[in-house]
Amino acid sequence: MDYSQIEKASAIPEAASMIETFRAIGYNIETAIADIIDNSISANAKNIYVDSNWVGDKTTITILDDGDGMNNEQLIQAMRPGAQNPLAARNVTDLGRFGLGLKTASFSQCRRLTVLSKRKDYSPVYWTWDLDYVNETSKWELLRYIPEEYKTALDDRQSGTLVIWNNLDRILPIGTEQSNEFALGKFTDIMEKVKCHIQMTFHRFMEDKKTKFYFWSREIKPWNPFLINEPATQAFADDYISGGAMMKGYVLPHKSRINDETFKNAEGINGWGAQQGFYVYRGKRLLLAGDWLGMFRKEEHYKLVRILIDLPNTLDSDWQIDIKKSTARPPLACREQIASYARNVRANGVHVFRHRGKVLKQKLGQDFEPLWLDKKKGNKWSFVVNREHLMILELRELAHCQPDKAIEQMLRFIEETIPSKSIYIKETEEGDNQKKPFEQENLEIVKSMIKKIFDNQIMSGRSPEQAKATLLNLDPFNQFPELIETIYGND
Ligand SMILES: Nc1ncnc2c1ncn2[C@@H]1O[C@H](COP(=O)(O)OP(=O)(O)OP(=O)(O)O)[C@@H](O)[C@H]1O
Ligand SMILES: [Mg+2]
Repeated sequence: MDYSQIEKASAIPEAASMIETFRAIGYNIETAIADIIDNSISANAKNIYVDSNWVGDKTTITILDDGDGMNNEQLIQAMRPGAQNPLAARNVTDLGRFGLGLKTASFSQCRRLTVLSKRKDYSPVYWTWDLDYVNETSKWELLRYIPEEYKTALDDRQSGTLVIWNNLDRILPIGTEQSNEFALGKFTDIMEKVKCHIQMTFHRFMEDKKTKFYFWSREIKPWNPFLINEPATQAFADDYISGGAMMKGYVLPHKSRINDETFKNAEGINGWGAQQGFYVYRGKRLLLAGDWLGMFRKEEHYKLVRILIDLPNTLDSDWQIDIKKSTARPPLACREQIASYARNVRANGVHVFRHRGKVLKQKLGQDFEPLWLDKKKGNKWSFVVNREHLMILELRELAHCQPDKAIEQMLRFIEETIPSKSIYIKETEEGDNQKKPFEQENLEIVKSMIKKIFDNQIMSGRSPEQAKATLLNLDPFNQFPELIETIYGND
């Protein structure tokens, strides 16, 4: 198109409303702080410190690093929304993409963002975005302001950056007093969650030992989702996905094979059931923790399955990485490859989950005696009561002297122990081939029961039509109308 021939009108974004809109991208405090830490890692920080200073509604959160830092010109550029083109190629270790994170993550939590930075051989510099000022003036203008107590924070360092969040209106409403114990308790809980999120999101950097992370001045430990140091963890072969991505499946040990503390710790922030699924990393930084990427549902019996996917940042647009770095979508072309790899790992995961009985048996050195047995005939499956079970033998004895009590107890045990979980798993594994009542069986037992009920009905004065109607509505005999018909016909 020849743009020179076309009339134009200026449509510059309106600063006040635009900057408020940045607040609505959907971060929570955990993902927001992780986004700030991304920048520290990209800037080659060796140490990263997350801190907070409780002063009620004047509380600050700070993220300090000893990375490369910025000079004045670079800092102003960094503070500009959209400082970089998302299409530009990035260094392999760069965790950034959109040129927005520093601003959008900060504004999602606070109304005043100050960055103090020092580049080697330069003096420290600082600038502040103050949303109240932008609102008042509707100008895209930074303020040369820093809270007094932080002014000299980088003076003794060769290089580094300090991000300061002030006026945290999203978590601390205006008017919150410093003496408010309840608010302090809530704030502390929120910060604990942030700590757990950092332990998980950046665990590979902590394990590499190239970067140390501190929270409230104490070094924090990594949370590895795959229990790689447990001998009972099953690790599957790596599989390569086009474009330089790879995946590796893990089936975590059954509860009975690890100690209670390890088991509790491995459940992570959201609990065992929720933590199953893919763990998508981008440049070693975790984007998604426990998500089946729309391919499968989360189910109890797959809770031991976790699959690592590693992405390089060159695949950002193919995998639709978002600004918050909290979602990813596999491209259509590799979905089947990923799903098929996952199906194999999941099948093994179910195996480990179901064989807890076997493990117990090994531990006690005795044979495990199930009440329900898994039976297969042709392609039909069912569960039957184990007639040799000690309790059934006892009930047979009891039936001689107290038949009513024996029947009642047997019914009770059946009700209480119906293997619904195993049936559910079977259905997922083998499809809908569950044997129907008395299917493929000799029907004599059904016939004789129908006959008995029919005779009793007649004896109690009902007509053959009425007796037949009763049987046709009686579970499970309603499934055998032709049998009811014959017996009725013969009579
Ligand atoms: N802690 C830091 N140390 C050094 N430079 C930084 C730091 N934080 C931000 N920067 C600079 O500011 C720029 C803008 O950061 P910002 O987080 O807004 O965008 P990004 O990291 O480039 O991309 P994304 O939006 O994906 O996070 C970065 O590219 C980097 O050059
Ligand atoms: Mg960033």
